[in-house]
This record gives sequence, C-alpha cells and structure tokens, in this order.
Amino acid sequence: MIERINRLLAEIEAIKAGSLEEVEQLRLKYLSKKGLVTVMFDDFKTVPAELKREVGQRLNELKNKAGQRIEELKSGFDQVQASSATSLDLTRPVNSMQPGTRHPLSIVRNQIIEIFGRIGFTVADGPEIEDDWHNFSALNFTADHPARDMQDTFFIATNPDILLRTHTSSVQIRTMENTKPPIRMIFPGRVFRNEAISARAHCIFHQVEGLYIDKNVSFADLKQSLMYFAKEMFGENTKIRLRPSYFPFTEPSGEMDVSCLICGGVGCNICKHTGWVEILGCGMVDPNALENCGIDSQAYTGFAFGMGIERITMLKYQIRDLRLFFENDVRFLQQFTGS
Ligand code: PHE
Repeated sequence: MIERINRLLAEIEAIKAGSLEEVEQLRLKYLSKKGLVTVMFDDFKTVPAELKREVGQRLNELKNKAGQRIEELKSGFDQVQASSATSLDLTRPVNSMQPGTRHPLSIVRNQIIEIFGRIGFTVADGPEIEDDWHNFSALNFTADHPARDMQDTFFIATNPDILLRTHTSSVQIRTMENTKPPIRMIFPGRVFRNEAISARAHCIFHQVEGLYIDKNVSFADLKQSLMYFAKEMFGENTKIRLRPSYFPFTEPSGEMDVSCLICGGVGCNICKHTGWVEILGCGMVDPNALENCGIDSQAYTGFAFGMGIERITMLKYQIRDLRLFFENDVRFLQQFTGS
C-alpha cells in the first residue's frame, strides 16, 4: 500500500497539462469518485490495524498533494487568461458614452441664484421633512386656517405633525430663528403638495423664496428688487405689475405678473389673452412672523417673495407641459445647455 502511495505521489508531482480542459481531465483521473487517489481510500479498509495510522497519514498527504497540484496547474491558466484579456484590441469600436446635460430646472435655478447674488442675496437651504411649526404655525397658518387647504401635503406623522414641506418659507423661519438681521437670502429647494399630476401641476416641484430683513425695508425695495430680477431673467423690455393678494405671513401681499414673453403683451393663448403671466407671490413680512422668530418687529421690517422654478422655466423656454421635467427623456433634456 505504501509503495502504491509513493508511486502515485511521484506521478502526480510530474503531471503537466496543456490546457484548462486537460487540468480537468487530470482532476477527474485522480480525485473524482472513481479517481486513482479516491479508490485508495476504499482499499484502506483492508490495511491491518497496526499499519492504519501510518498509511492513513500518507493517504491524506497524497490527497492534499494531488489537490494542490491540480490547483497549481489551474491557476497557471487563469493567469494566462487574465493577461490575454487585458491585451488591447485597437480595432474594437469605443463604448459610446454621451455626457449628460444640465437639467433645465437646474439651469434656471442657477440663473435665479446668480441674479439675486448680484444684489447681495446669499443662499441657504433647509430640510424637506418639516414640523408643523416651521411649515405652517410660525407663518401664521393657525391650526384651522383655511389657507392650509391650499397647501395640503404628505404627512409622515400626525400629532405632532411631521410633513413634507409645502414651500421653502419654512427655511425663512429657520433662518430668522438663527440669524440676526440684516438678512438678505434666497432659499431654493424641492417642495411637495397633494396635487393631482397634470400639465400644470405636480406633487413635487421647486421653489426659490427670498427674504430681506433690515431697518427701514419698504415696499419700494420689494418692487425694485423684483423688477430687477424680471428684467435680468426675461429681458430688458419686460414689464411687471403687482396685484393685491393674500398670504398669512405677509401684509400687504401681492402677486407679480410679467408682460407675456410670447406675444409681448398683445395677448396670446399662453397669457390667456391678458398680456400678463403670473410668476410669483410676495409681500411685507407680517410682524407676527418676525416676532415668532424672535425678531423685534418695531425695529425691523422686511419683504419676502416666492416663485416656482417650473413656472419660470416653462415661460423662458416655452414648455407647455410640466410633466416633461420629470420624465427624463433625453430628447427633451438635451435641448438645454448652459451652466
Ligand atoms: N410661500 C408662498 C407659496 O408657496 C409664496 C410666498 C413666499 C408668498 C413669500 C409671499 C411671500 O405659495
């Protein structure tokens, strides 16, 4: 038995293979169920008891050696394969990878940030998941205020309410709570409302709100800043008009229209033949909102405004359906360039 083991051991040490298939043949020859090494274990039963210990050891040695040798041969081929895979085939066509383009909403958001940056507004952001205080109560939306109906949203928890913010006015509150005036900031971000999706509305959209608080800030400052914005955004000939409106956290409040870019104010179906298109809400910050954030409303006044980035983008590029922004069709997205 020992002699047979030695012979097999010598044989196995000398095996060579020319391919991976040959290695597999060798593995079957020695190590499969009926393999030369395996059957030796069957014969082990016949070994006299006093030799079992020595023979057993040698048998295990043989089996390990055979396994090792087969692995060695195999890994030799693995290396050969790996190195041939890295060799270059210069005739292969390249993988065509098209660089993406910036999303139109990002382009317009960056423009808005840049325009207000030129008149001293810096940028801040806040959480998309808000509590009732920052999204509603601090902004004068008391618990049963009807204005809450217009901003129904998605609630993560109730009592106390945790919700997806309906506007970036929540960031105005957070800023006023943490910053001493003067404050001159804009707040771009994603907002959420419980709206059916259509060409003009979506349950997710984007806003930029602005806030300016200092001593002696007046409605004239509001109007001048927004006029500057409109002309920079839509062109020097753009006219603006302010209509009275209502928001719980501004008093007085207004909505701003710009003269229709498409027809120049003559009337078309984009402006519903009025010559004007609404682009934002605005007003003087209600003293209550200031006091809610620890700002002395006797010493300070301020204005705020808020616009939907989708609306501005649709106007600027004459896009008729808001859903296009969310569908990620590259044929749509590739039409916009810029930073
Ligand atoms: N937060 C308001 C909205 O989302 C917009 C707004 C902002 C109005 C600031 C006035 C002042 O509808």
